[in-house]
Amino acid sequence: MTEKRITARAHTNIALIKYWGKRDEKLFLPMNSSLSLTLDAFYTDTTTSFLPESQEDIFILNGVTQEKKEQEKISAFIDLFREAAGISTKIKVESTNHVPTAAGLASSASAFAALGTSLNELTGMKMDKTTLSTFVRQGSGSATRSIFGGFVEWDMGTNSFDSCAKQIDDASWDIAMLTIPVSTDKKKLSSREGMKLTVETSAFYPAWVAQAGKDLHMIKEAIAAKDFIRLGEITEANGMKMHGTMLGAIPPFSYWEPLTVKVLQKVTEIRGQGLPCYYTMDAGPNVKVLCRKSQAAEIKQILDDTFPENLSIFSGVGQGAYLLTDIE
Ligand code: PMV
Repeated sequence: MTEKRITARAHTNIALIKYWGKRDEKLFLPMNSSLSLTLDAFYTDTTTSFLPESQEDIFILNGVTQEKKEQEKISAFIDLFREAAGISTKIKVESTNHVPTAAGLASSASAFAALGTSLNELTGMKMDKTTLSTFVRQGSGSATRSIFGGFVEWDMGTNSFDSCAKQIDDASWDIAMLTIPVSTDKKKLSSREGMKLTVETSAFYPAWVAQAGKDLHMIKEAIAAKDFIRLGEITEANGMKMHGTMLGAIPPFSYWEPLTVKVLQKVTEIRGQGLPCYYTMDAGPNVKVLCRKSQAAEIKQILDDTFPENLSIFSGVGQGAYLLTDIE
């Protein structure tokens, strides 16, 4: 086998309509469809190459060879591509996360989207992006959406082949996102564990599933109309409903920190002063603020003046995953 090295880049994405809960743990089939915005500020670069002599895959992240547990997770994901391509050769994975260290946003979305995009070429599968998104989904649900840029919908589908992502709109209008890093500590409960506990125990979970479907329908209308205010209102309400389900779990849990609440209040206050901006949060204490790109600098200044220890990070709209290696 020739000495082939394939590098791919994928950007992270932030869900405006959240994915929260699986109906199939093994295949990563979600309970509800979701919709996200791909961000250009945070991304992962991943290079894969064959290891013809090796008995094991190798996974190096940010220059550090990873422990067995991490290697196994990556190997199980690579197996999806090896099985589909009919090969058994071991593979070396070298990944670098380009996420500001302070952001505490190390993202499985960009990681699996970059790895999948690289493996798609290395193994000669050359699947189209929609099919690739169904493979990437089985590494991390949110990665499904990072295959595409702009506003992306992950349709929950009916099975493993049609639970895929598609671009709804390239978001090339007046859109941006600010991230306020509240804490960089490793989270106590992974999103995988958090959503499982919620699905199994939260009294509020059935209401979440019903609401998420309605919110998705409404946000797609807002995007089609390029109605920023409506987009923000639906985003903010949907994120809070997701966090509400966690308080209904047994035992109840929350990803919030005291500072999270202060940031949310500040965002509401800024909005009250006539600068439209809307918050959302994922399985962690950091706050993301959706705003107009033309007003982002002004909003950032107010946030940074209020929280000088937690400087916000600006991001524009990102593109879908792509190869950095020239393919002939
Ligand atoms: O697929 P994961 O494990 O990154 O889970 C994502 C869960 C949320 O970030 C909370 C919501 C989402 O849709 O990204």
